[in-house]
Amino acid sequence: MISAAIFASGSGSNAEAIVQASELPCTIQLLVCDKPEAPVISKAKEWDAEVFVCDPKTFEDKQAYEQAILTKLQEKHIEWIFLAGYMRLIGPTLLEAYPERILNIHPSLLPAFAGKDAIGQALSAGVKVSGVTIHFVDAGMDTGNIIAQEAVPVLEEDTHHTLHQRIQAIEHRLYPETISYILKERDRKE
Ligand code: GAR
Repeated sequence: MISAAIFASGSGSNAEAIVQASELPCTIQLLVCDKPEAPVISKAKEWDAEVFVCDPKTFEDKQAYEQAILTKLQEKHIEWIFLAGYMRLIGPTLLEAYPERILNIHPSLLPAFAGKDAIGQALSAGVKVSGVTIHFVDAGMDTGNIIAQEAVPVLEEDTHHTLHQRIQAIEHRLYPETISYILKERDRKE
Protein backbone atom coordinates (compact mmCIF):
# COMPACT_ATOMS: atom_id res chain seq x y z
CA MET A 1 0.00 0.00 0.00
CA ILE A 2 1.28 3.48 -0.92
CA SER A 3 1.95 5.72 2.08
CA ALA A 4 0.94 9.36 1.91
CA ALA A 5 0.95 12.56 3.95
CA ILE A 6 -1.58 15.35 4.08
CA PHE A 7 -0.45 18.95 4.63
CA ALA A 8 -3.11 21.27 6.08
CA SER A 9 -3.29 24.65 7.80
CA GLY A 10 -6.96 25.08 8.66
CA SER A 11 -10.15 23.29 9.54
CA GLY A 12 -9.19 20.06 7.80
CA SER A 13 -12.49 19.09 6.18
CA ASN A 14 -10.71 17.99 2.99
CA ALA A 15 -8.12 16.09 4.99
CA GLU A 16 -10.94 14.32 6.81
CA ALA A 17 -12.69 13.49 3.53
CA ILE A 18 -9.49 11.87 2.24
CA VAL A 19 -8.88 9.92 5.43
CA GLN A 20 -12.48 8.68 5.49
CA ALA A 21 -12.67 7.81 1.80
CA SER A 22 -13.16 4.14 1.17
CA GLU A 23 -10.97 2.14 -1.19
CA LEU A 24 -8.17 4.69 -1.61
CA PRO A 25 -5.04 2.94 -2.86
CA CYS A 26 -2.95 4.63 -0.14
CA THR A 27 -2.87 5.06 3.61
CA ILE A 28 -2.47 8.45 5.25
CA GLN A 29 0.43 7.97 7.62
CA LEU A 30 1.14 11.59 8.49
CA LEU A 31 -0.52 14.97 8.90
CA VAL A 32 1.82 17.96 8.58
CA CYS A 33 0.41 21.20 9.97
CA ASP A 34 2.15 24.58 9.99
CA LYS A 35 -0.28 26.25 12.43
CA PRO A 36 -0.10 25.05 16.05
CA GLU A 37 -3.69 26.24 16.71
CA ALA A 38 -5.31 24.80 13.57
CA PRO A 39 -8.54 22.80 14.15
CA VAL A 40 -7.26 20.05 11.84
CA ILE A 41 -4.85 18.97 14.60
CA SER A 42 -7.60 17.86 16.97
CA LYS A 43 -9.49 16.19 14.11
CA ALA A 44 -6.38 14.21 13.22
CA LYS A 45 -6.10 12.77 16.72
CA GLU A 46 -8.98 10.47 15.72
CA TRP A 47 -7.05 9.17 12.71
CA ASP A 48 -4.52 6.43 12.50
CA ALA A 49 -1.82 8.92 11.46
CA GLU A 50 1.03 10.75 13.16
CA VAL A 51 0.52 14.49 13.57
CA PHE A 52 3.59 16.61 12.89
CA VAL A 53 3.12 20.26 13.83
CA CYS A 54 5.91 22.28 12.28
CA ASP A 55 5.74 26.02 12.84
CA PRO A 56 7.86 27.88 10.24
CA LYS A 57 8.38 30.74 12.71
CA THR A 58 10.62 28.47 14.77
CA PHE A 59 13.07 27.93 11.87
CA GLU A 60 15.79 30.18 10.49
CA ASP A 61 14.44 30.08 6.95
CA LYS A 62 12.15 28.20 4.58
CA GLN A 63 14.86 25.75 3.60
CA ALA A 64 15.41 24.69 7.23
CA TYR A 65 11.65 24.46 7.78
CA GLU A 66 11.12 22.24 4.75
CA GLN A 67 14.18 20.15 5.61
CA ALA A 68 12.62 19.34 9.00
CA ILE A 69 9.43 18.24 7.21
CA LEU A 70 11.42 16.24 4.66
CA THR A 71 13.28 14.37 7.42
CA LYS A 72 9.93 13.38 8.94
CA LEU A 73 8.52 12.35 5.54
CA GLN A 74 11.55 10.17 4.88
CA GLU A 75 11.42 8.62 8.34
CA LYS A 76 7.80 7.59 7.60
CA HIS A 77 8.62 6.47 4.00
CA ILE A 78 6.02 8.84 2.59
CA GLU A 79 5.62 8.54 -1.19
CA TRP A 80 2.90 11.11 -1.96
CA ILE A 81 1.83 14.46 -0.49
CA PHE A 82 -1.70 15.87 -0.66
CA LEU A 83 -2.10 19.56 0.16
CA ALA A 84 -5.51 20.19 1.70
CA GLY A 85 -5.86 23.83 2.63
CA TYR A 86 -2.10 24.18 3.22
CA MET A 87 -1.59 27.91 2.81
CA ARG A 88 2.09 28.02 1.86
CA LEU A 89 4.08 27.80 -1.33
CA ILE A 90 6.08 24.58 -1.56
CA GLY A 91 9.80 25.32 -1.95
CA PRO A 92 12.59 23.53 -3.80
CA THR A 93 13.51 21.26 -0.86
CA LEU A 94 10.16 19.42 -1.03
CA LEU A 95 9.58 19.86 -4.77
CA GLU A 96 12.87 18.19 -5.63
CA ALA A 97 12.22 15.32 -3.22
CA TYR A 98 8.67 14.74 -4.55
CA PRO A 99 8.63 15.54 -8.28
CA GLU A 100 5.07 15.11 -9.68
CA ARG A 101 4.08 13.58 -6.36
CA ILE A 102 2.45 16.56 -4.66
CA LEU A 103 -1.22 17.38 -5.34
CA ASN A 104 -3.19 20.46 -4.34
CA ILE A 105 -6.86 21.40 -4.22
CA HIS A 106 -7.93 24.96 -4.96
CA PRO A 107 -11.43 26.48 -4.68
CA SER A 108 -11.71 28.01 -8.17
CA LEU A 109 -11.43 27.04 -11.80
CA LEU A 110 -7.73 27.75 -12.26
CA PRO A 111 -6.09 29.70 -13.76
CA ALA A 112 -8.84 32.05 -12.52
CA PHE A 113 -8.52 33.30 -8.95
CA ALA A 114 -5.20 31.76 -7.93
CA GLY A 115 -3.74 32.58 -4.52
CA LYS A 116 -5.50 33.53 -1.34
CA ASP A 117 -9.29 33.85 -0.90
CA ALA A 118 -10.35 32.42 -4.25
CA ILE A 119 -13.98 32.50 -3.09
CA GLY A 120 -13.82 36.22 -2.25
CA GLN A 121 -12.07 36.90 -5.56
CA ALA A 122 -14.85 35.09 -7.47
CA LEU A 123 -17.58 37.02 -5.63
CA SER A 124 -15.84 40.36 -6.22
CA ALA A 125 -15.38 39.60 -9.92
CA GLY A 126 -19.09 38.86 -10.28
CA VAL A 127 -18.58 35.58 -12.16
CA LYS A 128 -21.54 33.24 -12.58
CA VAL A 129 -19.46 30.08 -12.40
CA SER A 130 -16.53 29.14 -10.20
CA GLY A 131 -15.48 25.69 -9.05
CA VAL A 132 -12.79 23.35 -7.84
CA THR A 133 -9.39 22.43 -9.32
CA ILE A 134 -7.01 19.63 -8.41
CA HIS A 135 -3.52 20.00 -9.82
CA PHE A 136 0.09 18.90 -9.50
CA VAL A 137 2.17 21.31 -7.46
CA ASP A 138 5.06 23.18 -9.04
CA ALA A 139 7.08 26.19 -7.90
CA GLY A 140 4.37 28.71 -8.84
CA MET A 141 1.26 29.85 -7.03
CA ASP A 142 -1.46 27.36 -8.12
CA THR A 143 0.17 26.94 -11.54
CA GLY A 144 0.90 23.20 -11.84
CA ASN A 145 -0.67 20.86 -14.40
CA ILE A 146 -4.40 20.50 -13.90
CA ILE A 147 -5.75 17.00 -13.25
CA ALA A 148 -9.45 17.56 -12.50
CA GLN A 149 -11.91 20.45 -12.42
CA GLU A 150 -15.57 20.76 -11.60
CA ALA A 151 -17.74 23.85 -12.03
CA VAL A 152 -19.94 25.29 -9.28
CA PRO A 153 -22.56 27.97 -10.11
CA VAL A 154 -22.29 31.29 -8.26
CA LEU A 155 -25.80 32.35 -7.23
CA GLU A 156 -27.09 35.93 -6.99
CA GLU A 157 -27.72 35.53 -3.26
CA ASP A 158 -24.40 33.80 -2.47
CA THR A 159 -22.31 34.94 0.48
CA HIS A 160 -18.73 33.86 1.06
CA HIS A 161 -20.05 31.19 3.42
CA THR A 162 -22.73 29.72 1.13
CA LEU A 163 -20.44 29.60 -1.91
CA HIS A 164 -17.64 28.03 0.09
CA GLN A 165 -20.06 25.40 1.46
CA ARG A 166 -21.17 24.39 -2.06
CA ILE A 167 -17.58 24.34 -3.28
CA GLN A 168 -16.48 22.23 -0.32
CA ALA A 169 -19.25 19.68 -0.94
CA ILE A 170 -17.67 19.11 -4.37
CA GLU A 171 -14.12 19.15 -2.97
CA HIS A 172 -14.86 16.39 -0.46
CA ARG A 173 -15.90 14.04 -3.27
CA LEU A 174 -13.54 15.17 -6.04
CA TYR A 175 -10.27 15.10 -4.07
CA PRO A 176 -10.47 11.44 -2.95
CA GLU A 177 -11.70 10.43 -6.43
CA THR A 178 -8.78 12.23 -8.10
CA ILE A 179 -6.20 10.84 -5.69
CA SER A 180 -7.49 7.37 -6.42
CA TYR A 181 -7.38 7.96 -10.18
CA ILE A 182 -3.83 9.40 -10.17
CA LEU A 183 -2.35 6.71 -7.93
CA LYS A 184 -3.87 3.93 -10.03
CA GLU A 185 -2.71 5.58 -13.28
CA ARG A 186 0.83 5.95 -11.94
CA ASP A 187 0.83 2.36 -10.73
CA ARG A 188 -0.27 1.17 -14.20
CA LYS A 189 2.55 3.13 -15.90
CA GLU A 190 5.39 2.19 -13.50
C1 GAR B 1 -10.41 24.41 0.81
O1 GAR B 1 -11.58 24.97 0.29
C2 GAR B 1 -9.30 24.43 -0.21
O2 GAR B 1 -9.74 24.34 -1.52
C3 GAR B 1 -8.67 25.78 0.07
O3 GAR B 1 -8.70 25.91 1.46
C4 GAR B 1 -9.85 25.25 1.96
C5 GAR B 1 -9.43 24.41 3.14
O4 GAR B 1 -10.55 23.89 3.78
N1 GAR B 1 -7.34 25.83 -0.43
C6 GAR B 1 -6.79 26.93 -0.94
O5 GAR B 1 -7.35 28.00 -0.99
C7 GAR B 1 -5.38 26.74 -1.47
N2 GAR B 1 -4.93 27.86 -2.19
P1 GAR B 1 -10.41 22.65 4.77
O6 GAR B 1 -9.33 23.00 5.78
O7 GAR B 1 -11.76 22.54 5.42
O8 GAR B 1 -10.07 21.45 3.95
